[in-house]
Amino acid sequence: MKLILIQVFFLLLAQATECKPRPGRKTFNKLLVISFDGFRWDYDQDVETPNMDKLVKEGVKAKYITPPMITMTSPSHFTTITGRWIEDHGVVHNMKFNSTSYLKLTHKATQNQSDWWDNGVEPLWITAQNQGLKTASFHYPGGGANYSGQAVNRALVESYAHPDSNETEWHENIDIVMGWFNQEDFDFVTLYYGEPDGVGHSKGPETKERRDMIKQIDRTIGYLMKSIQQHQLTHRLNVIITSDHGMTTIKKKPQVEEILLSKYLKFWKDVHFDLLDYGGFGMITPKEGKEQEIYNALVNAHPNLTVYQKENLPEDFHLAKNSRILPIVVVGDLGFNLNSRVIFYVNKGDHGFHNGEMDMKTIFRAFGPDFKKNYLAEPFDSVNIYPLMCKLLGVTPAPNNGSLTFTEGMLLGEFDKETPGLTDQIRRHVNATLPLLA
Ligand SMILES: *[C@@H]1O[C@H](CO)[C@@H](O)[C@H](O)[C@H]1NC(C)=O
Ligand SMILES: *[C@@H]1O[C@H](CO)[C@@H](O)[C@H](O)[C@H]1NC(C)=O
Ligand SMILES: *[C@@H]1O[C@H](CO)[C@@H](O)[C@H](O)[C@H]1NC(C)=O
Ligand SMILES: *[C@@H]1O[C@H](CO)[C@@H](O)[C@H](O)[C@H]1NC(C)=O
Ligand SMILES: *[C@@H]1O[C@H](CO)[C@@H](O)[C@H](O)[C@H]1NC(C)=O
Ligand SMILES: *[C@@H]1O[C@H](CO)[C@@H](O)[C@H](O)[C@H]1NC(C)=O
Ligand SMILES: *[C@@H]1O[C@H](CO)[C@@H](O)[C@H](O)[C@H]1NC(C)=O
Ligand SMILES: [Zn+2]
Repeated sequence: MKLILIQVFFLLLAQATECKPRPGRKTFNKLLVISFDGFRWDYDQDVETPNMDKLVKEGVKAKYITPPMITMTSPSHFTTITGRWIEDHGVVHNMKFNSTSYLKLTHKATQNQSDWWDNGVEPLWITAQNQGLKTASFHYPGGGANYSGQAVNRALVESYAHPDSNETEWHENIDIVMGWFNQEDFDFVTLYYGEPDGVGHSKGPETKERRDMIKQIDRTIGYLMKSIQQHQLTHRLNVIITSDHGMTTIKKKPQVEEILLSKYLKFWKDVHFDLLDYGGFGMITPKEGKEQEIYNALVNAHPNLTVYQKENLPEDFHLAKNSRILPIVVVGDLGFNLNSRVIFYVNKGDHGFHNGEMDMKTIFRAFGPDFKKNYLAEPFDSVNIYPLMCKLLGVTPAPNNGSLTFTEGMLLGEFDKETPGLTDQIRRHVNATLPLLA
């Protein structure tokens, strides 16, 4: 009797310590997610990109993907890493703002500020860590914050002075990340680059400078492919390359009548607080009692301006539910920036426009041991990247708004099969001791 009890005890113990949550496959490959900010879906079509072309053959390409509505850096990146709509995750702008204290902090300054990012929705780094994985964020938006007091295992935050386009540094960052995977056994790393967003803003998307930047990105992807081989990660690292939004050329006079809201509003008299002058999306808090007046003043003001009262935002924007969304939301037609008091805007390109516009669509590429080769995926919403990342890592997802339906066709048929024979440790060891082919 005693013996049986002891046996039962050990059986239960064995079950309790069985760590991977899914039946079937028992070991999972590592995952690197790279985001090149503002990489419009078609940027590879008017410039030579030999390495990205090679990736099409060696992996998966989606025709394009659709970012969430607010096509801005922090909101969109946070949808990717949480799988939640913006109204759920609460990062509703690049700026941290407070309409009572009039505080406005820039995108870089928010990276430090946990209370801006931590709104009760867990990003994948944290969920994965709580399931025993080791994760890191290299400059990725939101990676520097704490979530319920918990930090990402390793987080590098972009400094104010960080140069966006230094190719040498780009390559160094890849080597650093490969070292994390190879020598420190990280499982999941997100790596962020601030281009081609920078050049898209300053020079415009239809310029030689932008095309040159795409060539630089392509060389960097070539460097990545070599670095993966050199670090003997080819058979145990999956890679997703994606971005947060596209870019469009800003229409200026005399070609069009630019949108200048002070033509229709008395800012000093009727507006309490505003987030304007940041591309095609803006928000306004009217002074008390001025809500209807402001709406009426804007509703037929300019043919290329759409104004919404918060409660009448279209449901498919997935925005209205969040308390940080201000009472009036304004969206410009493609290329029409929302200027507030004066037009001091000098940039040639911008985003923030409706996510249905082709110029706001962005890229999705993937390759590695679990992905099919030469697979062209239909377009999908970026919110669906999250469940794919979870599946690749063997992580049980947190509640999310994504679905695997759109992405699981990218994976090899045998993905869910039980890992046969040797344990992963032994297999990794065998692979590592094999001489480097090619
Ligand atoms: C906004 O600022 C006001 C006034 O300083 C402050 O009382 C309030 O707590 C702030 N709101 C948030 C969410 O930080
Ligand atoms: C992060 O916070 C530290 C300490 O408050 C500050 O010195 C640093 O400049 C901040 N970095 C960014 C990018 O905001
Ligand atoms: C995260 O939490 C740690 C430990 O409490 C703290 O030292 C650090 O400053 C926090 N970082 C942020 C960005 O809030
Ligand atoms: C680019 O980065 C490299 C490596 O970090 C550095 O040595 C070099 O000085 C940087 N160049 C510029 C122009 O900042
Ligand atoms: C080892 O390499 C083989 C191909 O050479 C690959 O199929 C397998 O997935 C690799 N295993 C691991 C654990 O990296
Ligand atoms: C701007 O509005 C005019 C008049 O309604 C319309 O013809 C034009 O297509 C709009 N521009 C864009 C980019 O939607
Ligand atoms: C998004 O997912 C959350 C968590 O499951 C859920 O509460 C919310 O209703 C979902 N949003 C939509 C629009 O389905
Ligand atoms: Zn961006």
